[in-house]
Amino acid sequence: MSYPMGEAQRQRIADMNEERLDAIMRLPKLELHLHFEGAAPPAFIRGLAKEKKIDLSKIFRPDGSYDYRDFWHFLEVYEAATSVLKTPEDFARLCTAILEESAANDVVYCETFLSPDFCGGGDVHAWKEYLHAIREAADAAERAHGITLRGIVTPIRHFGPDKAKRAARCAAETAGDWIVGLGMGGDEKMGKQRDFAWSFDCAREAGLRLTSHAGEWQGPKEVREAVEDLGVERIGHGVRAIEDLALVDLLAEREITLEVCPGSNVFLGVFPSLSEHPIDELRKRGVKVTVSTDDPPFFHTTMRREYVNLAKTFGWDQDIFAAVHRDTLNAAFCDAATRDALAKKLELT
Ligand code: ADE
Ligand code: ZN
Repeated sequence: MSYPMGEAQRQRIADMNEERLDAIMRLPKLELHLHFEGAAPPAFIRGLAKEKKIDLSKIFRPDGSYDYRDFWHFLEVYEAATSVLKTPEDFARLCTAILEESAANDVVYCETFLSPDFCGGGDVHAWKEYLHAIREAADAAERAHGITLRGIVTPIRHFGPDKAKRAARCAAETAGDWIVGLGMGGDEKMGKQRDFAWSFDCAREAGLRLTSHAGEWQGPKEVREAVEDLGVERIGHGVRAIEDLALVDLLAEREITLEVCPGSNVFLGVFPSLSEHPIDELRKRGVKVTVSTDDPPFFHTTMRREYVNLAKTFGWDQDIFAAVHRDTLNAAFCDAATRDALAKKLELT
């Protein structure tokens, strides 16, 4: 189902020529929802597997891309790919690869989901070592490419509440100017948001900002529960909120920002096509929406592609992207000095 469009919007779509699309493609961008391991290029994972003599051939297609059937199989393949990332040095190398790719897509600020489960198994001491290595690589990328990275610690929902508590303790111990939030990912169909309330309370007390995946595979009830039971200020995806217009109004009123990943949703079949995706309708209804790639190589997307597709499909022009950038910066979990510097860089002041 597509949503209605007015004449002005139809005209904007009709007016999208090569030159306009090229300018939109090259806009400086902000990304709030990027899974660190999910951003690993398949060639990078294959190279590491070869170095470590691990046979991962079953997770790749003959053309070299990741091979999976659906979202739940994707989670398995994701974890298999991640299994070759063993040391802090491996994560540092991955950080360099990710930020080179993000910078090539004109991303100037990125928040990434990092999981202590994959970085030391929830042990605080080990987590600090991984984090140190990742931050060193991020600092080097900032100097080389002018891209700023911040981390959101990620409990993985299908690993259960006990592992989430260990992740939250790691988050609380490293909360500060770089680890800026807690954000749950993983299989939304496992357990309830409130099963993870302890972890979210622990993170909040440590001064961290909160987000949780909801309304990607489950309906609007899940989004409401993330807001009410965990007190999150952002939602990962959240797009199925569109099935409950009272909830849409609530998100708009409370300025709960959605980390929307249109290409991911279409690739995984949450919506049949971008024209049937609710991002534009949610924005028109006053919800703060942002644009991200989620796990770009898995979903054959990039930030440049996301922008061009939104421009072509919904007629999002430079003014609309500037408004989206303002909302994105307001919802970013970084400190005020970083936000102000980014506002200047994006000429939003
Ligand atoms: N982990 C990585 N990508 C994810 C997604 N799209 N939803 C939930 N958990 C994820
Ligand atoms: Zn995600």
